[in-house]
Amino acid sequence: MCGIVGYIGDRQATEFLMDGLAKLEYRGYDSAGIAVYHDDKITVQKKVGRLVNLQKVVEEHPNVGTVGIGHTRWATHGGPSDMNSHPHTDEKGDFAVVHNGIIENYLELKEELIGKGYHFKSETDTEVVAHLCADMYDGDFASTVRHVLLRLRGSFSLVFMCRFEPDKIICSKRDNPLIIGLGNGENYIASDIPAILSYTRRTYILNDEEMAIVQKDKIWVTDYEGIPISKKVFEVNWDAEAAEKGGFEHFMLKEIYEQPKAIRDTMSCRIANDGTHVVFDELKWTPEDVKSIDKILITACGTAYHAGLLAKYFIEKIAKIPVEVDIASEYRYRDPLTDHKTLCIVISQSGETIDTLAALKEAKRRGARSLAVTNVLGSSISREADQVVYTWAGPEIAVASTKAYTTQLVALLLLSLYMGQLNGELDAELEGNILSDLMNVPDQCQQIFDHVEDIHAYANQFKEKEDVFFIGRSMDYALAMEGALKLKEISYIHAEAYAGGELKHGTLALIISGVPVIALATQRNVEEKMISNIKEVKARDAFVVGVVQEHDTEVAKCVDAIITIPKTSNFVVPIMTVIPLQLLAYYTAVVRGNDVDKPRNLAKSVTVE
Ligand code: F6R
Repeated sequence: MCGIVGYIGDRQATEFLMDGLAKLEYRGYDSAGIAVYHDDKITVQKKVGRLVNLQKVVEEHPNVGTVGIGHTRWATHGGPSDMNSHPHTDEKGDFAVVHNGIIENYLELKEELIGKGYHFKSETDTEVVAHLCADMYDGDFASTVRHVLLRLRGSFSLVFMCRFEPDKIICSKRDNPLIIGLGNGENYIASDIPAILSYTRRTYILNDEEMAIVQKDKIWVTDYEGIPISKKVFEVNWDAEAAEKGGFEHFMLKEIYEQPKAIRDTMSCRIANDGTHVVFDELKWTPEDVKSIDKILITACGTAYHAGLLAKYFIEKIAKIPVEVDIASEYRYRDPLTDHKTLCIVISQSGETIDTLAALKEAKRRGARSLAVTNVLGSSISREADQVVYTWAGPEIAVASTKAYTTQLVALLLLSLYMGQLNGELDAELEGNILSDLMNVPDQCQQIFDHVEDIHAYANQFKEKEDVFFIGRSMDYALAMEGALKLKEISYIHAEAYAGGELKHGTLALIISGVPVIALATQRNVEEKMISNIKEVKARDAFVVGVVQEHDTEVAKCVDAIITIPKTSNFVVPIMTVIPLQLLAYYTAVVRGNDVDKPRNLAKSVTVE
């Protein structure tokens, strides 16, 4: 949610700033802007709309200089416009600021500054920060920023430039991500790793309320009192190509096709060499650790929440521990019954989602132990949780989550097995069977990709539809929710998911002739019940696409079209069932001419509440 970058060195800053912003555009694409220092002046260029609009401005009027900051915006305070775009400056243009987050006390600060005669140009909360710098300037850039930071409430990552000290940029963060990339004779600042991957893998990850003074060959990190903090260099292990499209038309498609590798990477280090049991070196729990848990709370947002819904089935069926699953933004406000016997599992691809982070902090405050399942090393959530299980999906750039979801399912299934192993609830034969099925998944995915043309054809058929329904029972119901979300967010077709048995309690009224219903029927224990539900919608003349495991002829007999998933067990099949749903959403969005990787109104990594 908003991407920020900074550069200081000997090269033209614009080069890195524009490239970094392109890599971060998934974080917001309402507007973009840069500020570069040259010849005693900070020149700001900013433009509403996609980054290409700014690119044109920069090409026509090159912004020369070797120190600069940049921003790509997801609008919160103030609609998308040139004026509301970042960087923001004070009236004299002595300070420039880019910001990701929300300054909660900005109205109070704005009134105070207006009272002192300052004039505001934008409707943003960020502009107060630039004016505050001018107002509080004490002749020393770092000390001014430190005092300004102490006046801000809310969440932020901020990067500052000052015309009086152009040999440094200063940055700080609270509850929003910020990293510093360490170069040779040059340094970089970014919200997220992909922006710096082509330049360096050596980083400092800033903690909350740390402030870094970044020069081209020196970086000091201090707290807000000015006390020095020594930072460890964090080596990023993603490669630069992983953040490129690699010949695919969209990141989303590339990421769908990367799933076999991502799944293999996530599971291989956690399955014993003989394939009989799970090993979690990063957890090293004892049987007592698991037996002392009387409830598991899973909390997350969006797609990650849907992974949590599936994990409830995994954990309750395999480890026999009761699980409750909460949307992270709801958890905090319902006075939850969480205590020291609760294990709180938070799931987050980015590791930065503010609602999830806040829910994690709340669960910890109530005494829960905590575990994060996340994809980003060193992310805020990974640092806040007591323990971390990483998904090894590599960078996920498309706003619509795909490989992060499937790897979350893999990690959570393995975790369920691990808990069941330790608390004695899991039968060794069942474990061996699940693991052997799981190990086949990366190869079996290819069978789904081999039939991608069928899915493409359904997308063409659905492109003019106004509504699509997804139905399923048991684990397929959780998958139906994910299938509907994927279709909604990128194709903009209204889609709803229903538990098969719920249709007759209201929704059946919406089923009319020709309406598409995607009926997920991969769970054998509820297959007969699903067939009844399919017949209910068929009787209202819906067009039903059944999603079934190979050789399932019973469902095939009562649907209009079929998508086949390779044969496997009930626990493992969801990891593959979601893939055609992702592809259906993808191709539907493509045939409708939508911007697949950057759907309207959305952004990846939601760092505002
Ligand atoms: C949907 C999607 C979102 C995210 C949600 C949580 O495709 O990507 O629903 O799943 O915003 O994000 P993370 O997992 O980064 O916490």
